Amino acid sequence: LLVRGAAQVVQVACNGEKTKLREDMKDLAIVMASSKEGVSLAVDEHGKIAAVGLDSEVARQFPDAQWQRVVEAKGCSLIPGLVDGHTHPVWSGDRVHEFSMKLAGASYMEVHAAGGGINFTVTHTRNSSESELLELLLPRLNRMLRSGTTLVECKSGYGLDVDTELKMLRVLEKAKQASNIEISTTFCGAHSVPKGFTAEEATVNVVKEQIPAVKAAIENKEISVDSIDVFCEKGVFDVEQSRRILEAGRQIGLMINFHADELNPLQGAEMGASLKSEAMSHLEEVSPGGIAAMASSETVAVLLPTTAYILRLPCPPARDMIDAGVPVALGTDFNPNAFCLSMPLVMHLACVLFRMSLNEALCAATLHSAHSVRRAHTHGSLETGKNADIIIVNAPRWEHLVYQFGGADETVAYVIKNGHVV
Ligand code: NIG
Ligand code: FE
Repeated sequence: LLVRGAAQVVQVACNGEKTKLREDMKDLAIVMASSKEGVSLAVDEHGKIAAVGLDSEVARQFPDAQWQRVVEAKGCSLIPGLVDGHTHPVWSGDRVHEFSMKLAGASYMEVHAAGGGINFTVTHTRNSSESELLELLLPRLNRMLRSGTTLVECKSGYGLDVDTELKMLRVLEKAKQASNIEISTTFCGAHSVPKGFTAEEATVNVVKEQIPAVKAAIENKEISVDSIDVFCEKGVFDVEQSRRILEAGRQIGLMINFHADELNPLQGAEMGASLKSEAMSHLEEVSPGGIAAMASSETVAVLLPTTAYILRLPCPPARDMIDAGVPVALGTDFNPNAFCLSMPLVMHLACVLFRMSLNEALCAATLHSAHSVRRAHTHGSLETGKNADIIIVNAPRWEHLVYQFGGADETVAYVIKNGHVV
């Protein structure tokens, strides 16, 4: 595949193999068209980026190339495929009725404590078959893809028992075959305390029943799972219970990527850093000590502006995290509470509400999100050798993708996954 004539190609980073993170998120690597010619990006037969440069340079590099497909990108800009670092996309039964309750003043935890919230979705998801859940999931993934997401982290967590959690993980496994989007799977059997259990009983259930069952299903090659998650929150799993669950996941080889310090400051971030978590999400209530602990570990902060927005939470201290050197990533948090599938909208909210710059938001939504699922060596920037996951934005400056909020998805002209237009 050859894309040529573009007004700009935003590589995000261009330091070659070594690039995992951009400590300096402010300046992105961008190749601009000259007054005479545009920018090309060439993809090899393995779906990897082979070259980025001015049209004539790339043509010179591949003088005899027989391109299977040429995309003319005049007036357009190219950016890496977006990486959504946090979603809960497998469920049935929406919660539109709770939206009006929350608008009328009910808090997230009030709805939750009254048996609504996550446990409402659990009841519906337990009663749905694998094929029903897959049928609900695929159009959601497709909408993500159309708005530019090429890699997404997807959690289980509306089962809270062995059978339903495995059912959800199998649905995600099938979606990997049935969809063009790439998935990083997270087991979240500790997303809520199921009805009839204490938090302690639920912790024991996750550690002694669910995790061994997940391990067995991984070993049978029935499913593949990358990470473990827990909702570490007052009234859900406390810090010590969360630690036990995350350690048990680590023992079966999973990465740690969990909900920390969302509604209450529990020092979840400090605990997560001590476990060398690959990533932590939310962090609206992270303490200064938590930020310092994160900065001196290898963890990524996955920030979720839709949740802060819809629940009117205080914003996470994104600027403090960036200033402290914590790599900040972004996710939609798509779930029945925050029904948003669009990373461009999330980037917009991150800029306006969290005071991130456009460049920081792009770096967060690509390279840093890719690193949160430890795929930054192959994903998240338009560097030679990396997977050709690309968005062609129908505007000469990529910022239109964020600027045109509410309609930004329509600026996505093409989505390219592993070198194929999808
Ligand atoms: O990230 N906080 C916990 N989990 C989700 C909400 C899930 C739900 O409400 O169904 C979140 O916001
Ligand atoms: Fe979440």
